[in-house]
Amino acid sequence: MATFSGKVAFITGAAHGQGRAVALALAEQGAEIAALDVARQLDYPGYRLAEADELRTLQAEVEGLGRRALVFAADVRDEAAVAEAVRQTTAELGRVDILFNNAGIAAYGLAHELSEAQWDAVLDINLKGAWLVAKHVIPRLIAQRSGVIINNSSVAGLRGFGRMSHYTASKWGLTGLTKAWAIELAPYGVRVNSIHPTGVNTPMNDGLAALEGTTPEAIAERSAGNLLPVPWVEPADVVEAVLFLASDRARFVTGTQLVIDAGLLTR
Ligand SMILES: NC(=O)c1ccc[n+]([C@@H]2O[C@H](COP(=O)([O-])OP(=O)(O)OC[C@H]3O[C@@H](n4cnc5c(N)ncnc54)[C@H](O)[C@@H]3O)[C@@H](O)[C@H]2O)c1
Repeated sequence: MATFSGKVAFITGAAHGQGRAVALALAEQGAEIAALDVARQLDYPGYRLAEADELRTLQAEVEGLGRRALVFAADVRDEAAVAEAVRQTTAELGRVDILFNNAGIAAYGLAHELSEAQWDAVLDINLKGAWLVAKHVIPRLIAQRSGVIINNSSVAGLRGFGRMSHYTASKWGLTGLTKAWAIELAPYGVRVNSIHPTGVNTPMNDGLAALEGTTPEAIAERSAGNLLPVPWVEPADVVEAVLFLASDRARFVTGTQLVIDAGLLTR
């Protein structure tokens, strides 16, 4: 039997990048998928987010693997839409076992030059959005007395990054949420962990470079962070970390931070 047979995964920011890779990998290993994505362009950060057709493509691919797939075009900041997506997921797929809080945006800007709207966009999507989704999923996990939450933070959730103070604050916030929720949910057998990738080869990586008027390679060279001689890691590397944390192989792993950083945090 596949590792995740009979399990239901709720994934945010699922239409492309890391979320999409995780959705397909979980489906390949037996999980039914609920995929939520804003699936439209926002004024900020200004690089390309997912489109509605990418959400539909994901749905078709998951169904092609023989799994059920629900897709929701919704913003993680919209509590009513999030609540309805979780309600529909449990109504149609029966349960939620795995929450991958992955939706996020990144942007550059010095602290004293950021507008309040830019600050709010990053904090509201990356941090408050993760809380809003968890708020509606957690009661199901408590009722089931099982489940796993994985928050996609960043290496920026474990060290400082200049010109990204709003992003860095949001990602440290996710690290804190992970620890607080691990404490709250342990009595119910629910585990909560965060992952912390270095740069990942996704549309975000390309989009940030475009905003800087340069290439992803030039950004990687400028930051010179990874110890291993790679400019970034691949979504497949993130998938491995998520599959481990979501599985019973990690049954006593909770409240922890799993880095996929090519050694960056060792510097
Ligand atoms: N790419 C990197 O270098 C990197 C490194 C470390 C951590 N991360 C984090 O990993 C997560 C996934 O990033 P990615 O690299 O796949 O980025 P991406 O931009 O390629 O994908 C992010 C997805 O989130 C969706 N999204 C954005 N705002 C949303 C909102 N308000 N509501 C719902 N969905 C929304 C986008 O449409 C997109 O499909 C993010 O939280 C990011 O901060 C990325």
